[in-house]
Amino acid sequence: MEIITDIASLRARLQDEASIALVPTMGNLHAGHLSLVRIAQQHAGCTVVSIFVNRLQFAPHEDYDRYPRTQENDCRLLEENGVDIVFIPGEKTLFPVPQEFQLLLPPVADTLEGACRPGFFRGVTTVVLKLFNIVQPQVAIFGEKDYQQLQVIRRMVTQLNLPVEIIAGQTIRAEDGLALSSRNNYLDNIQRQKASELARNLKKIGESIASGERNFSHLEWSAIERLNMQGWKVDYISVRQQCMLLPATACDSDLVILGAAWLDKIRLIDNFPLILS
Ligand code: PAJ
Repeated sequence: MEIITDIASLRARLQDEASIALVPTMGNLHAGHLSLVRIAQQHAGCTVVSIFVNRLQFAPHEDYDRYPRTQENDCRLLEENGVDIVFIPGEKTLFPVPQEFQLLLPPVADTLEGACRPGFFRGVTTVVLKLFNIVQPQVAIFGEKDYQQLQVIRRMVTQLNLPVEIIAGQTIRAEDGLALSSRNNYLDNIQRQKASELARNLKKIGESIASGERNFSHLEWSAIERLNMQGWKVDYISVRQQCMLLPATACDSDLVILGAAWLDKIRLIDNFPLILS
């Protein structure tokens, strides 16, 4: 496995590769990230994993500074998992000058995470577009864990005619249902025990819909109330259409229930996709 930190060396190394798959990450890797690596390996001869904690997608009051950085362990995991190249650019490598050019995003980026974290998707798409331009992969893998991010990136690729195929990986969970996330590292023991309640509530909504319930706002409000009673502070719980992420109607069959909530100062997000037959 090669660790590359600058753009010129990466381009030189990749120029003769027939097929490249990219897995963009912010590091602190876990089994969720590694599941995306395995998908990448099935789709291309050369797998590149990027590790970069992207300042552009953090608001000034958010956790950029304390975001876990575990480069040595990450590289060991990637090597054990047969990754060809890890790209770890420094801040000055990706942003040698202030990043003035940014994208104008579609309405799907203004709702849910976009409403709670203004500027978040602009930061994500800017860095992902830069990574696509640097690595020029044929395929790139993103997790369903960040469902809205996946949809925003799919739209960017379609509308900007980027020559890359986006492939989604399913959410990998701990035994109790908690979606794996680098931010789970912030949880203390008691919070960790509570953390799976978010996933359980989303799943419960999904099960009620699957068994015929169509009063989505009632389901949303009961889950919000339950979680708030259990000590959470809910940002949103929402039943949406999978593709456009518009509020779901009783006629829709491809649904996703999305949620974001705080346990003390730790914000967790999760979702539960549901296709009604
Ligand atoms: P990060 O949070 O490190 O996630 C990197 C990729 O791993 C994303 O595609 C995310 O959806 C996926 N992922 C995270 N947890 C997962 C899980 N439990 N199961 C499956 N996949 C999971 O998402 C980002 O970084 C950044 O926004 C990035 C796209 C790298 C741009 O900076």
